Amino acid sequence: MDHTLQCVFLLFSCQYQGSSAVTSLFVKKGSDAWLDVQEAVPERFAYIEWNVNETNLVFFRPGEEPIDTKTVEFSNTNYTLKLKNVQETDSGDYTAVVLEAQRKKVAEYKVIVQAPVSPVSLTVDSVSKSSDSCNLTVTCRTQDSHISTTFTCVNQICSEDGDRAKATTSGADLRVYLQNDSINCNHSNHVSRTTNQGAKMQDFCHQASGTLSAGFPLCLVKMVVFSVGLIIMTSAVITVHLKERTMKRKLTQESSTSVITQNSH
Ligand SMILES: *[C@@H]1O[C@H](CO)[C@@H](O)[C@H](O)[C@H]1NC(C)=O
Ligand SMILES: *[C@@H]1O[C@H](CO)[C@@H](O)[C@H](O)[C@H]1NC(C)=O
Ligand SMILES: *[C@@H]1O[C@H](CO)[C@@H](O)[C@H](O)[C@H]1NC(C)=O
Ligand SMILES: *[C@@H]1O[C@H](CO)[C@@H](O)[C@H](O)[C@H]1NC(C)=O
Ligand SMILES: *[C@@H]1O[C@H](CO)[C@@H](O)[C@H](O)[C@H]1NC(C)=O
Repeated sequence: MDHTLQCVFLLFSCQYQGSSAVTSLFVKKGSDAWLDVQEAVPERFAYIEWNVNETNLVFFRPGEEPIDTKTVEFSNTNYTLKLKNVQETDSGDYTAVVLEAQRKKVAEYKVIVQAPVSPVSLTVDSVSKSSDSCNLTVTCRTQDSHISTTFTCVNQICSEDGDRAKATTSGADLRVYLQNDSINCNHSNHVSRTTNQGAKMQDFCHQASGTLSAGFPLCLVKMVVFSVGLIIMTSAVITVHLKERTMKRKLTQESSTSVITQNSH
């Protein structure tokens, strides 16, 4: 997954090859990341090094063994730097520099490590209904942020007003939107996303879809159908039960008479 991400960024960086553009690379906390050299490394060179924030991480002279550490791995064939189990503190400006006749930068990445976002909850705070409109206020809440919005439905056409999206203090994006009658909360950053699709507009704004007088008979019809069904079922059960009892009684009478007749012989 991180490799795909990396490839996307590499493609992006190719367009800027030759320029000194820095490639942003977002990495999920706890995963590995590969930083490839972005420009051709000459066949013969004195050394190549990887630095983070101007501090040396890897120093490699051809013919010598590169030194890997607990947190990084270096390939002396393609000069890729692998960051292992990245943490927030590994964020920073990573550069690869090669010395031929002079020092030349062959890669530069701005690595941004982000933790996966927390779950998001969805609550319906208030509903106000009239014969032709319905206003629903909902809140999407995360550990460190929340966003509220009011959806206004007029004749079943719903729209929203108020904030639809905001940046959280941890740099994530918190969003609330309607999709196919479902209210969705979306909490995302560059490496992960959580969503909550707990509520349907219909469930809260149902009566507002028609007038009360139109809604009431429907409810009544449902009740009548249900009651009639219940009565039919109950009487069926009772009838079967009664039939069984009378048959059993007949059977026991018959069998006892036969026993008596056998005994008298
Ligand atoms: C560079 O080499 C390492 C192993 O030496 C390999 O795992 C990695 O995929 C290579 N990267 C590229 C871009 O070829
Ligand atoms: C690099 O510098 C940034 C900000 O100055 C800092 O947050 C980060 O932890 C540093 N990274 C490393 C690996 O020292
Ligand atoms: C819903 O909100 C709109 C605009 O704020 C208002 O005109 C309308 O009366 C409200 N409807 C209800 C049922 O509260
Ligand atoms: C929205 O509803 C339509 C038809 O009812 C369906 O084809 C579509 O897949 C739905 N979209 C989502 C995102 O649920
Ligand atoms: C959630 O938000 C992200 C970006 O903030 C977006 O890429 C994604 O499509 C959204 N999810 C849905 C289901 O719309």
